[in-house]
Amino acid sequence: MALRLSIRRAEPHSVDVPLLAVALPKNTKLPAALDALDASLGHALGRTLARRDFRGARDESLHLAGGDKGAQRILLVGLGDGTDSAGALRRAAAIAGRQARKLGVGSLAFWSENSSDSAIEVAAAGLITGAWEYSDLKALPPEDERKPSLEEAIILTGDSKGAEDALARGAAIGEGIALARRLAMMPGNLCTPDFLAYTARDIAKRYGMKITVLGREEMEKEKMGSFLCVAQGTPQDPKLIAMEYRKGSGKPVVLVGKGLCFDSGGISIKPAQGMEMMKFDMCGAAAVLGAMQAIAQLELPVNVVGLVGSTTNMPSGTAFKPGDVVRSHLGKHIEIINTDAEGRLVLADVLSYARKFSPAAVVDAATLTGACVIALGHTAIGVFGNDDSVIQEVLAAGQRSGEPGWPLPLWDDYKELIKSDVADLKNSGGRAAGSISAALFLKEFVDYPWVHLDIAGTAYSETDLGFIPKGPTGIPVGLFIEFIRGRAG
Ligand code: BES
Ligand code: MN
Ligand code: ZN
Repeated sequence: MALRLSIRRAEPHSVDVPLLAVALPKNTKLPAALDALDASLGHALGRTLARRDFRGARDESLHLAGGDKGAQRILLVGLGDGTDSAGALRRAAAIAGRQARKLGVGSLAFWSENSSDSAIEVAAAGLITGAWEYSDLKALPPEDERKPSLEEAIILTGDSKGAEDALARGAAIGEGIALARRLAMMPGNLCTPDFLAYTARDIAKRYGMKITVLGREEMEKEKMGSFLCVAQGTPQDPKLIAMEYRKGSGKPVVLVGKGLCFDSGGISIKPAQGMEMMKFDMCGAAAVLGAMQAIAQLELPVNVVGLVGSTTNMPSGTAFKPGDVVRSHLGKHIEIINTDAEGRLVLADVLSYARKFSPAAVVDAATLTGACVIALGHTAIGVFGNDDSVIQEVLAAGQRSGEPGWPLPLWDDYKELIKSDVADLKNSGGRAAGSISAALFLKEFVDYPWVHLDIAGTAYSETDLGFIPKGPTGIPVGLFIEFIRGRAG
C-alpha cells in the first residue's frame, strides 16, 4: 500500500506516534528545538549526544526508548557533515522510512532542524523511497507474528506557506522512483516488454499523454533491423514505446531507456553465475517511465517525450548470431561480433527514431556495459555526449538529485575500435575502453544534442546499501526529473 504523507505543525515532544525519527548533523549539541523532547525523555537524548554514543555521521542511526508521553520510540539518524544538505536529508529520511518498515510500526514522524520547503520536498521523497519494498511475491507471516504495516509518515515542521506544495512535489518524485524500482524488481517473466507497454499506457491515460507503441510488425515497416535482430530469438513481441507529455513550448527533451527485460547474452551466452541479475537490464526503461510519471504529476511546463526500447535477448534457432550483418533504421550496416552487445543495437534504432520528434536534447539511460562497473564502480553514472553544455547540465542535475555522474571521453581516436571489415560498424569493440566504444557506437545514430548515461554500475545493488535495500536503486529517475526541472526554468 502507498505511504500516506502529511505535514504537522507540532513540536517533536508532543506527537503521539509509535516512532519519531530525529535527523541530526555530525557532532552536534542538542538543538534548542529538542529541549522539550529531551526533558520528556528524562534527558536521555542529551546524555546520548554528550557520551557520543551517537555522532550524527552519515547513515548512522540509533534507537532510543520513548518516554511516558509522546512518541513510543525515538530513532536518531545522522546527516553527516552537511556538505550536501539536500542529499543528506533525503538519505536520512530514507533510513527513517526503512527502519520504520523493518520495525513494523504503522506510522512515523520525521523531524529535522531544517524546515524549508526544499527540505520538506527531499524528506518526503526520502521517506517514500525508504519505505519502498517489493513484497508482492511473498506470503504474509502467520497472523500472530504479523506486525502493522507502515501506512503513514508525518513530517514535523514550522509554519510555511509552501509546505503542502513541497510535500506533494516530494511525493511525486518519491513515487516515480518507487515505480522504477518496482518495475526493475519484478522478475523477467512478469515484467515483459508487454508489461512495460501496459504500464506506459496506464501512465499516459492517467495524465493525458499521447502514446504510441510499435510492435514487431510496425518496427519491420520502419526497417529497424538493428533493434529487430536482437528480438529475433524471442517469441515475445518487442515494444518501442513513445509517450508524449506536452505542457510547454518548443522542441521537446527526449528521454530514452534501454528495456531489456532479460539479457541472456543470446548466442554469445553469458555465464550462469549471476545471470538472474540480467532481469535488471531494463532499469533505463524503468527510469524513463518513473520520470515521465513524476514529470506529469509535477505538472512541469515543458515538452518531454519518453522512449523505451524493450525486448529480451535469447538464444534460439531463430536468434541472430555473430558474423551477421544488419541494416539499421538510419541505414548504416552493423556487423554483429557479439550478440551480448545487444543494448546498443536496440538503442541505435530508438535514437534514430527520436529524430522524428526534432529533439532539443536527448538523454538516454542504459545498463550498457560491464566495463562501466569496472571504470566507475557502483558510485557514479558514466556520462558521455556530443555537447559539452548539455553534459554539464546533466552532471549538475545528477548532483542535485544525489545521483552523481562522471564524464568519460568520446574522442575520435577510439573510433578504430568499432570499425568493421564488412560493414559500416561492428557492435563490439572488445574489452579495452568498453564503455567508450559502446557510447561511440550510439553516437553514430544521433544528429542532435545528446547525452548517454551508462547506469550498469548504479542501477541496482548486489548488497544492502542501508538507505536502499539490495536490488534496484531507481537511478536515474531523480537526475531525469532535475534535468527537466532545470529546463522548465
Ligand atoms: N547488459 C549488459 C551490460 C551489463 C553488465 C549491465 C553487467 C549490468 C551489469 C550488456 O548488454 C552487455 O552484455 N554488455 C557486454 C558488451 C560486450 C559483449 C562488448 C559487456 O559489458 O560485457
Ligand atoms: Mn548483453
Ligand atoms: Zn544488456
